Amino acid sequence: MKSEKLKSVRIFSGIQPSGDIHIGNYLGAIKQWIALQEKNDCVFCIVDWHAITVPYEPKLLRQKIKEVTATYLAAGINPKKSVIFVQSHIKEHAELTWLLNTITPIGDLQRMTQFKDKSKKYGGNISAGLFNYPVLMAADILLYQTELVPVGQDQKQHVELAREIARRFNAKFGDTFTLPQAQIMKIGAKIMSLAEPTKKMSKSDKPETRIGLFDTAEQIKKKIGSATTDSGKEIEYNPEQKPGISNLLTIYSLFANKTIKDLENEYAGKNYQTFKQNLAELLIEKLAPFRTKKAEFEENPEQIGKVLKEGAEKARAIAQTTMEKVRATMGLL
Ligand code: TYM
Repeated sequence: MKSEKLKSVRIFSGIQPSGDIHIGNYLGAIKQWIALQEKNDCVFCIVDWHAITVPYEPKLLRQKIKEVTATYLAAGINPKKSVIFVQSHIKEHAELTWLLNTITPIGDLQRMTQFKDKSKKYGGNISAGLFNYPVLMAADILLYQTELVPVGQDQKQHVELAREIARRFNAKFGDTFTLPQAQIMKIGAKIMSLAEPTKKMSKSDKPETRIGLFDTAEQIKKKIGSATTDSGKEIEYNPEQKPGISNLLTIYSLFANKTIKDLENEYAGKNYQTFKQNLAELLIEKLAPFRTKKAEFEENPEQIGKVLKEGAEKARAIAQTTMEKVRATMGLL
């Protein structure tokens, strides 16, 4: 493909500074970002206002924001090529959220799967912020006139809602927003929990259900060793009947850059234990550089501060241009 001839597009995506970033976040989102930043106009956000829509620890939030920034840098997001910034540093996100709320039907928010899941999880303790979460996400995306939103499967519905909000706004007030589209990997868009492979791997579940991007060799060995596998002993991909081994095959395939078919052939007649040992070794080798680089960035907090300050300046310039258009078209003085 003559990719150098393709025109550069505006990309936007983000991660919440909550819990520990895991290989699902990496394979579903960050890995795509690194490839996309080479030829596109990328904006990557640390979405702290989203992270406070469920109970959280204020003392830890600041630390988490810096940690996610260090994670972006350690994983290979280059601040010379991409804009990296913190959502709450750009007040236009709050302003646009309010304005978009006025054209978003309550029914659209009530049917969001993530809202329904989180409502169940947090029982009666549901804030209006959690309900309006997808509108803030739409504001994130639309402020930057985003064309593509690289995310995991679980965010597809939110990106589709952002597109619908943009379409509705343009129809009502005139052409203002670019219509965004989700970009989702064919493989890796939904990495499953190690303990319960029918559920997605999640930052908010117990540590043994996920491989953190910065886990030590010991942690990786232990977690992969005790990952749920299925009955039978063949190493074959069959997500319906063998969700455990299928998930491990997906992870192996993406980190080794081998197809699942090749791995099935390589492991024909071998047992789960050998497969798991090799997978653990592979992950230890592939994740080691992330740990080293993250530690280097964390030892240098001024650099993180500088990246976020410069990122905010670039993000603000784009956001302000959009907001001027929005205020004018909505008839605000
Ligand atoms: P968050 O912080 O839950 O997750 C960050 C990214 O990781 C993806 N992801 C996964 N991919 C594969 N397998 C998994 N098990 C897995 N778990 C998470 C998510 O799909 C996501 O791409 N609402 C968003 C953050 C956000 C955002 C935005 C994203 C706020 N504003 C604007 C894009 C554009 C969220 O909570 O992601």
